[in-house]
Amino acid sequence: MKTTVSLIKADIGSSPGHVRVYEPLMEKAEELLDKAKDENVIIDFVVFNAGDDTELLMTHEKGTNSEEIHKLSWDTFMELAQEAKKIGLYGAGQDLLKDVFTGNIKGMGPGIAELEFEERPAEPIVVFAMDKTEPGAFNYPIFQMFANPFNTAGLVIDPKLHPGFEFSVMDIYKAKFLELSCPEDMYDLLALIGAPGQYVVKYINSKNSQLGKAAAISTDKLALVAGKYVGKDDPVAVIRGQSGFPAIGEIVEAFTLGHMVSGWMRGSHRGPIMPVSLEYSQCVRFDGPPRVVGLGFQLKNGELKGGVDLFDDPSFDRTRERVNEIADYIRSHGPFEPSRLPLSEMEYTTLPDVLKKFEDQFHD
Ligand code: F6R
Ligand code: MG
Ligand code: MG
Repeated sequence: MKTTVSLIKADIGSSPGHVRVYEPLMEKAEELLDKAKDENVIIDFVVFNAGDDTELLMTHEKGTNSEEIHKLSWDTFMELAQEAKKIGLYGAGQDLLKDVFTGNIKGMGPGIAELEFEERPAEPIVVFAMDKTEPGAFNYPIFQMFANPFNTAGLVIDPKLHPGFEFSVMDIYKAKFLELSCPEDMYDLLALIGAPGQYVVKYINSKNSQLGKAAAISTDKLALVAGKYVGKDDPVAVIRGQSGFPAIGEIVEAFTLGHMVSGWMRGSHRGPIMPVSLEYSQCVRFDGPPRVVGLGFQLKNGELKGGVDLFDDPSFDRTRERVNEIADYIRSHGPFEPSRLPLSEMEYTTLPDVLKKFEDQFHD
């Protein structure tokens, strides 16, 4: 049986400001998906939040890019957004960029990561969702998981992982893709994905054709407006684990640095990303620091079993402490780079106004 895991997200409104999804709205989303489950549209689902983003994790047999699944997600977000407007939540419906559904949710605002695969007898999966950052924020941890032997011991000592993985990289300005294979093309890969504002990992493929795709990362808003900087799009990822893929412990190990990402306040700053449990899935200090949540499941005939909130664990306390220290340090730069992003990547800017105001006063 081929199962599809679809993780589809949108910011449909939050409270207070951009901090957190309003709990009753997640309950509403659960009600709507429960109905879709009863009608056999989906097999199973989990609704959760990453800060101000509502995340719909769904399993089904309809393949990737299924009109039915995308419509279900779109209708769910539309209904939540209407409710959010009534309640007076902040940014109600902000990620729903179109009025009418036209067959595929891509290019309509929400972010999507989907994987279709033949379930192994025991199929561990992990989903990650980030808030206050951009899809390129996954480049570093995905490289760690699938290419760095200092993170993933299996690449060196497990014959099933030893051949390595293929990375599908997207140039977000040209909306073009390039496949590079690790370890052979590692330096070329790093030359690209070390610049996460332009090159973003979209898929990881196993070199073992029996296993198929290993991971998918959302890049949807980026694909929508190729050719210009489109700002931040809080990303999600679906990743398969164990028996030929990185172990769950290797997958989460990739988040122990608290790596620097773009986003944070007004999508215009750099900051370290903090792995947190769902309890702390909210962006507070300076609208951050940027956060990532991770949930793990065993998938059986499309059912999501034994869910674990993976960062709800003291082994990530040190990372969180370090993130707070780094946040103090970088914040103390205030409006100076590298705390503030370079001009080309800021989501908010007053520069055109400032330049206009003084255009006659620049002199030799
Ligand atoms: C960043 C983000 C927030 C807002 C900030 C200002 O992705 O969503 O940091 O940019 O709170 O929001 P507005 O302009 O809505 O007052
Ligand atoms: Mg928001
Ligand atoms: Mg968000």
